[in-house]
Amino acid sequence: MTPEIAIIGGTGFTQPRHFQKTGAQQVETPHGAPSSDLVLGSLFGRPVAFLPRHGDPHRIPPHKVNYRANLWALKSIGIRQVLAIAAVGGITPEMQPSRLVLPDQIIDYTYGRSQTFFEDGLESVVHIDFSEPYSRSGRDTLLEAARKADVPLVSRGVYGCTQGPRLETPAEIARMERDGCDLVGMTGMPEACLAREIGLDYVCLAVVANWAAGKSQGEILLEEIHANIDAGMQDLFTILESWLEET
Ligand code: HPA
Repeated sequence: MTPEIAIIGGTGFTQPRHFQKTGAQQVETPHGAPSSDLVLGSLFGRPVAFLPRHGDPHRIPPHKVNYRANLWALKSIGIRQVLAIAAVGGITPEMQPSRLVLPDQIIDYTYGRSQTFFEDGLESVVHIDFSEPYSRSGRDTLLEAARKADVPLVSRGVYGCTQGPRLETPAEIARMERDGCDLVGMTGMPEACLAREIGLDYVCLAVVANWAAGKSQGEILLEEIHANIDAGMQDLFTILESWLEET
């Protein structure tokens, strides 16, 4: 059966546990190749397509991900709903390492990324509405799934997307906090706006991997990032199981 749901996996989610692979599909797009072949299979009994955002193995840095090809490829096989999993840094006090968060707003600090499908050969200029950057129904069903499964999920947060691949300076994080950001990540944009442009229902489930720069003592270590992501994974899969039953 062709899936209508896709999961884009981020750092720590390149080969998802519980996913039963049945095949893979290579897709060519007018924007080039996606991060990998689309992996087809099922998750908790539901047909799901999976796309590792950074490739498998994890080798494509955030600013080099071909976001347009990824979303185009998913749309072209009939996907309607995308759940994007993203590792983030926590800025505000509620956003503690290993917590799961459902962001509801975005501030984009990236540059030089291809931001739109609406560029060339247009009959008229297109401006999508982005007042609610994530799908409301997607967010509601995920919140409900977490509530039913009795798993804590922070129900809102402003996701600030930085260019990377370096982590931020404490001064940059302080500025982001003044701007209103709760979370910092490197891949949320232009993924979310391209999904809106191409008509995919898109929602982000963020796993807090570390305190953002300047929010804890000392350096941010990669081992710490991976350990916190791993600690959040069990809850994440419990939410996914409950969500896939609902959706
Ligand atoms: N900054 C940006 N992106 C991230 C971070 C961070 O601290 N942690 C995980 N992804």
